[in-house]
Amino acid sequence: MDAIIVIDSDIQKCSCIKAILEFVDYENIHMAGPDDWHNALLSPDQLKAIIIAESAVREAPERLSALREWAPQAPILMLKDVKSRSRLSKEISSQVLATIEYPLKYQDLTSTLQQAEVYCASQGKAQAQGGHSPELFRSLVGNSRGIQQVRRMIEKVADSDATVLILGESGTGKEVVARNIHYHSPRRNRPFVPLNCGAIPSELLESELFGHEKGAFTGAISARQGRFEMAEGGTLFLDEIGDMDMQMQVKLLRVLQERTFERVGSNKTLNADVRIIAATHRNLEKAIEEGAFREDLFYRLNVFPIEMPPLRERAEDIPLLIKEIIKRLQHENRGSVSLTQSAVMALSQYHWAGNVRELANVIERLVIMHPYGVVDMRDLPEKYQVDPGSEEAAVPDYTMIRIDEPEVTRIPRNGIDLKEHLSNLECSLIKQALEDAEGVVAHAANRLHLRRTTLVEKLRKYGIQKADEVT
Ligand SMILES: Nc1ncnc2c1ncn2[C@@H]1O[C@H](COP(=O)(O)OP(=O)(O)O)[C@@H](O)[C@H]1O
Ligand SMILES: [Mg+2]
Repeated sequence: MDAIIVIDSDIQKCSCIKAILEFVDYENIHMAGPDDWHNALLSPDQLKAIIIAESAVREAPERLSALREWAPQAPILMLKDVKSRSRLSKEISSQVLATIEYPLKYQDLTSTLQQAEVYCASQGKAQAQGGHSPELFRSLVGNSRGIQQVRRMIEKVADSDATVLILGESGTGKEVVARNIHYHSPRRNRPFVPLNCGAIPSELLESELFGHEKGAFTGAISARQGRFEMAEGGTLFLDEIGDMDMQMQVKLLRVLQERTFERVGSNKTLNADVRIIAATHRNLEKAIEEGAFREDLFYRLNVFPIEMPPLRERAEDIPLLIKEIIKRLQHENRGSVSLTQSAVMALSQYHWAGNVRELANVIERLVIMHPYGVVDMRDLPEKYQVDPGSEEAAVPDYTMIRIDEPEVTRIPRNGIDLKEHLSNLECSLIKQALEDAEGVVAHAANRLHLRRTTLVEKLRKYGIQKADEVT
């Protein structure tokens, strides 16, 4: 699965895109007109992605369903003219994995193609397991090493009935992981029942978990099933397990050991065929030392621990997550927004104490503040604009140039040598682009929207070394 097909009636545009894709090391690129992709000598299961021009779809939306039918596994990417103001209908956007702007931007292009690869991988896996929904697997977005590792752990543990303990700061995606485990397990057709142990008063938690008989306590006017019964055959997700009081911990431990329980007020023993996934943002080992968590329960739960890395340790996932969050808002018809590169860069530098949840809140707020608008770094809420801990914030006024944002430069009191300043700026941007591109001049040129030869010229002018010269 490594082929990409580019579909557009404008053949010149097709070959331009093909050239760029090859330039950034994609191979096996095919081109076709909107109605002759059948003729491409290509089997659909070779496809990694279908890139189709928005105009071709707007002319005849049924082309999308035809493509879907032909290659149901391949993600469809929509090529949208930057200047195009038209909005995709809900029906169309639900069939498209992502949109790419034309003219192409290096980062946009590679991150979207990465997304397509992740999608393909999840599709392949879903097929192998009998074709259940890839949607949910896709919902754990991220390509960072940390997330890839989590994904591997999910795959490893899903098939078994092992108890899983998910650890990590709030908002890192612990519940997303729990749901993924369930939907990749043989229990996927049975219920997934979440319960937030911290949100329920401890005197009610027991009946919430195990249910009660009529009259078991004041207010128990009728018999009621607990979460263990509701989850029978499926998965019970005990969120914020670290907030459970010691008394309940004993009772839970008993169920884990004996796999049986009783409703409150009943002496009939029920069997629990339930897989347990627990999560907490607390440090349980510390809680054990402090006498707030039972060690024996910890060992019962900690059979297969999964640690969610905080978002600031996987900043490379931030652009993908922003895309995903915007896509979800679009799907829910709650509007949309786009972010400039510098806005995305600023958000990628933030420390995200509230992790993905905080990021989602910021994006939701931007959608409300700038409906269908373009958000630049300066439009972000102030605290996201410059990381107070960053080096840029610590340096004096004159040097405080955000290199991704030349507009914010202030002319110092005694004036500025414009020419010198601009060449410094140019030089620093070039160095940055080279760094980002790991010294590959062609990629750096792409990042700066320059021709390669122009960049080489400038490197010579500023005496900057390029990596491919050194090696
Ligand atoms: N890797 C991810 N991909 C997509 N969405 C995510 C990811 N991680 C978290 N989210 C989203 O962030 C929010 C918080 O995630 P959640 O699982 O509730 O975090 P936690 O349980 O760790 O507090 C949810 O809206 C979730 O959909
Ligand atoms: Mg949670």
